[in-house]
Amino acid sequence: MRSAGIVGLGSYVPEKVLTNFDLEKIVETSDEWITTRTGIKERRVAAAHETTTAMAIEAAKNALKDAGVSASEVDLIIVATVTPDYFFPSTACQVQHAIGAPNAAAFDLLVGCTGFVYGVIVACQFIQTGASNCALVIGSEALTRIVDWTDRKTCVLFGDGAGAAVVASVPEGRGLLAFDLGSDGSGGPLLKAEALQSCCEMPSSVGLNGRPTIYMNGNEVFKFAVRVMADSTLAALQKAGLTVDQVDLIVPHQANIRIIDAAARRLGVPMDKIFVNLDRYGNTSAASIPIAMDEAKRSGRMKEGDIVVATSFGAGLSWATFVMRM
Ligand code: UT7
Repeated sequence: MRSAGIVGLGSYVPEKVLTNFDLEKIVETSDEWITTRTGIKERRVAAAHETTTAMAIEAAKNALKDAGVSASEVDLIIVATVTPDYFFPSTACQVQHAIGAPNAAAFDLLVGCTGFVYGVIVACQFIQTGASNCALVIGSEALTRIVDWTDRKTCVLFGDGAGAAVVASVPEGRGLLAFDLGSDGSGGPLLKAEALQSCCEMPSSVGLNGRPTIYMNGNEVFKFAVRVMADSTLAALQKAGLTVDQVDLIVPHQANIRIIDAAARRLGVPMDKIFVNLDRYGNTSAASIPIAMDEAKRSGRMKEGDIVVATSFGAGLSWATFVMRM
């Protein structure tokens, strides 16, 4: 089996910034509450033209440029999103057309905030077996379009953006070293946005009225997140034959600084080994880890040869971790 790993990263975030002070004018909240309870200071909000697909395309182009790969070399495109522009066609097929990748198979992956990590692991299986030679894995979300702006428990948390990775074969000893994937559907009701469930009767007027919005039991998701991020990281590291001390950088899902802090304490890892950018973007679901990895690389926090852990949790409930030597 060949070795497979990330060889290029790119991201795109909308221009419009929504600060905690802006939110104070929308719901009964305060910069102080949001900052101390979540660590978030501001998030990005997509404009009308910044659709999930449009952001995915920009992130993909940036990742291809970073990898030095042309779109015609891409033979697999996976887009992780919970906020597609359409039920169908898939976002991945639209990206395939827009970037000009005639040789690519394309499909979407719905694993909530865990989708990008799942996607990288799936792409690595294709590369390792020789089924693919060059894959694009993208996480893209326009979460502010499904946020309930009257619910202060959730609307302060989420933001929009996209991140992408090029996955290809790499020299032996590099790339994916191990992974841990999991799910627990019994926790599904804790974090959800309905699609057709509530629309099974004939609508009173043509078309479906209203949009789905995010519902979350924050306290339960919080406890779950701390537990699975630590346990999944340890499980993946054990499979790789590594200890936490040998890890150069952990890139966790960017949901809440208190979740990251508590998981780090469970793991016995100092915070300076953990990449955090949620203060500027909030929780961008499947886009959070690729945006963070791209920034970590561009800022010099993540270097060639580093052992990097990416760990995530989300709707499903689901979780996933990969250990990679960059
Ligand atoms: O990607 C996966 C998605 N989800 C997550 O990762 C989220 C996981 N959960 C969390 O991050 C936290 O549970 C939250 C940030 C959502 C909430 O923090 P918390 O410390 O668990 O607060 P809480 O829900 O226990 O609420 C404490 C108080 C409540 O008031 P009372 O009942 O004590 O009077 C809330 O009504 O804070 C109130 N509150 C707010 N106050 C001001 C809740 N949201 C806000 C707000 N501004 N935005």
